[in-house]
Amino acid sequence: MLLLHRAVVSAFRHACRFKSTSSKLCIQACSTNDSFQPQCPSLTFSGNNSSTRGWRVMGTLLGLGAVLAYHDHRCKAAQELPRIYTREEVRSHSSPETRIWVTLGSEVFDVTEFVDLHPGGPSKLMLAAGGPLEPFWALYAVHNQSHVREILAQYKIGELSPEDKAPSTLKTSDPYADDPIRHPALKVNSQRPFNAEPPPELLTENYITPNPIFFTRNHLPVPNLDPDTYRLHVEGPPGGQSLSLSLDDLYQFPKHEITVTLQCAGNRRSEMTQVKEVRGLEWSIGAISTAHWAGARLCDVLAQAGHQLCETEAHVCFEGLDSDPTGTAYGASIPLARAMDPEAEVLLAYEMNGQPLPRDHGFPVRVVVPGVVGARHVKWLGKVSVASEESYSHWQRRDYKGFSPSVDWDTVDFDSAPSIQELPVQSAITEPKDGATVESGEVTIKGYAWSGGGRAVIRVDVSLDGGLTWQVAKLDGEEQCPRKAWAWRLWELQAPVPAGQKELNIVCKAIDDSYNVQPDTMAPIWNLRGVLSNAWHRIHVHVRANP
Ligand code: MTE
Repeated sequence: MLLLHRAVVSAFRHACRFKSTSSKLCIQACSTNDSFQPQCPSLTFSGNNSSTRGWRVMGTLLGLGAVLAYHDHRCKAAQELPRIYTREEVRSHSSPETRIWVTLGSEVFDVTEFVDLHPGGPSKLMLAAGGPLEPFWALYAVHNQSHVREILAQYKIGELSPEDKAPSTLKTSDPYADDPIRHPALKVNSQRPFNAEPPPELLTENYITPNPIFFTRNHLPVPNLDPDTYRLHVEGPPGGQSLSLSLDDLYQFPKHEITVTLQCAGNRRSEMTQVKEVRGLEWSIGAISTAHWAGARLCDVLAQAGHQLCETEAHVCFEGLDSDPTGTAYGASIPLARAMDPEAEVLLAYEMNGQPLPRDHGFPVRVVVPGVVGARHVKWLGKVSVASEESYSHWQRRDYKGFSPSVDWDTVDFDSAPSIQELPVQSAITEPKDGATVESGEVTIKGYAWSGGGRAVIRVDVSLDGGLTWQVAKLDGEEQCPRKAWAWRLWELQAPVPAGQKELNIVCKAIDDSYNVQPDTMAPIWNLRGVLSNAWHRIHVHVRANP
């Protein structure tokens, strides 16, 4: 103990030699009301109580050290006035060579070292290089959080000159002001861009999800397109002719109708987050919905533009008409082989459940790719082209990919993994709700089940005891064509509650016609983006005690 005291004493004396004079000066300079006078205390211990007293003295020393450090910090801050920069100077720092500066409000930041660490990708942050962050933060509202501001604060280098502090004109315009009005029942995960899911109990109320509560996944503001002037640009093959199709032109193609379930890759991400934090919206079990779609088959439109399935490795790239301030549009691609296959039934849809598409779901035209992840169903479709490589869109190449649980944001190599196309088998319990109280006697359990690639769900197993014993649920909803099971099956199980049971751990798992089955837990499929979250769905309910 004494040795420890000595070590602290010696360290403190050493610190006093260097710091006490300047600290005193600083304290006086910083605050004339401050009566605190640091002194080196006497530090000899004796007698039986030396240990207790020693701890007290040590506490005093540490407290004193903290006070001195705080005063030093205040003095330093007072001495170092912020550097002042003009907007012109900030503008000249827009490349790694000149360093990359940005502003937020009146503050200036040098983010050169952060560019490669930017979660949305370096290219997105570079859009703001030399200028204000506001227009981008208005667009990607996820930035407006205290932890993001804390990260940014580490890179602060100064302030804008008073003349340049006037709010940037870009700041005042709200890119989302023209977004449509939404149904109040939707559970909103983010307002700007708008992302929302129906509550579970409404999700399986109908086989077809009504348009107003169909889940919505937007990355950008919703474009307001005029159906009279709308044109879809379809690039022809080399040497061929491109098409510019109005809505009326699209109506001339044979009208094709199919029922398709659309699921976001991030559905059920909130359960994966419980294993370990991931980046992405906290979707519950509702980033999935089913609609009856009508439109022209993509293969018919591509054929009219002169495309053939000659190059099996080619891709069909789609571009949306929603874009960020630099004009970068949402985009994605699917293999040409799928697009050209009439049996794959890829649609350029203009109707959803017998209505023109709602604005949130792609009015006037969107792609519907049955059996494939939602990200490829490009909304507000502006352009279709065929290329030898996948779309260069961020959402094709730098997002919507799966990785091993061992991969983190420092080691991830997006080029090493294929983009998600067909989704794995999925199911979830929509009733009862997790945490609910059910009646003793009999319990009714409802849910949905679906698999990607047209694979039909052949069975849903339900357990009331956490997976020890299983019962087979009754499948409802439309029977599906073999290899073209594009839509979900709703399911239901009525099961007796075992006598005396106070709680139930209800679990469901689906099996598709390739005998793929959901994994039992999330940990082995955890990935840094929280996609493909399809482990057994588990809820815990209480059983009402008999009076
Ligand atoms: N298309 C465009 N143009 N912009 C988008 O943000 N989001 C994609 C896809 N198509 C998106 C898009 C994603 S990730 C999903 S899951 C589906 O649209 C969601 O379609 P929905 O909003 O109609 O449910």
